[in-house]
Amino acid sequence: LAHAAAPTGEPVKLGFFMSVTGRDASFGEAALRGSRLAVDDLNAAGGIFGRPVELVVEDNRSLPGESATAAKKLITRNKVVALIGECASSRTLEAAPVAQAAGLPLVTPASTNPKVTAVGDCIFRVCFADPFQGAVLATYAWKNLGLRRAALLIDSTAPYSVGLADVFAKTFTALGGAIVASQKYSGDAKDFRAQLTAIRSTQADTLFLPGYYVAAGLVAQQARELGLRSTLLGGDGFEAPQLIEIGGAALEGTVYSTHYSAESKAPASRRFVTAYRARYGAAPVGLAALSYDSVQLIADAVRRAGSTERGALKKALAATRDFPGITGRTTLDEHRDAIKEAAIMMVRGGQCVLVDSIRP
Ligand code: PHE
Repeated sequence: LAHAAAPTGEPVKLGFFMSVTGRDASFGEAALRGSRLAVDDLNAAGGIFGRPVELVVEDNRSLPGESATAAKKLITRNKVVALIGECASSRTLEAAPVAQAAGLPLVTPASTNPKVTAVGDCIFRVCFADPFQGAVLATYAWKNLGLRRAALLIDSTAPYSVGLADVFAKTFTALGGAIVASQKYSGDAKDFRAQLTAIRSTQADTLFLPGYYVAAGLVAQQARELGLRSTLLGGDGFEAPQLIEIGGAALEGTVYSTHYSAESKAPASRRFVTAYRARYGAAPVGLAALSYDSVQLIADAVRRAGSTERGALKKALAATRDFPGITGRTTLDEHRDAIKEAAIMMVRGGQCVLVDSIRP
């Protein structure tokens, strides 16, 4: 980096709301790490218009009902110019109407449910959406893994889970596969034995779990205890360093899709992985990279808008084309969704290994 003058004056504030603690704390940690790295990189390069960038953090503790309040506080009290959050679609859906009503841009790094950006023209996402992710998973299961009989285990309280299961089932049956079971659980469940026992009797060769890493680890354990041998399949919600800590050897052979792999050979990604490792002592997950990109993309839009004014910033964000980031190039379509590749990961020898990349 060239030496830039230290930024001075009124900070440009970005509001960050996420599950920093609670059930999904691993998501909050990754998102915060990626965002902080981006803010520090921006400030080392002179800030925005010579002003420092500041991240104002609100923790929703992974609880429902907290994210709208967090968004209101960040907008009214902290006077942020844009919001970054959430990871879980359920919580982004709580905050999005607040941002939309205020006319203030919200960028979600990782919420994949289609309803999120449908809230309105102030809501943007820098990742792919679930119509793509669900189709990718079903096609991969059918073609690459040779799976034919799928059981679904759905978190009925999470729009992410319900939506992803739906797309998966439609694509899998269109390919000729069968959905042999559809069982439900609710977000904080710890015991899945009743559902898994019902699934065991269906001779499913795959168990599709569109859920988050805690449920994934517990389901893997309990499924193996019950003698269920189906291949465990999931989406981006599986990705967390804690996945393997919770599920252990029971996860061997699990396949899931995600947004990015730290194994990527792209120069920008390599530099990011090195900086991230130096600072945090671990490799970044996709959510960390997407969060880094969210901050940089907002900064880029502020520069292109020539202003932090809400309407101008919203317009500049909507016009994002080929923005070079850690997760590849971001182009936002007419629904304010990014079109991105999916990475397919497999658990092998206790490691999550990149096995394929699927283009849109
Ligand atoms: N895509 C998930 C959702 O919409 C959230 C998620 C993204 C979780 C990335 C982990 C990693 O709810």
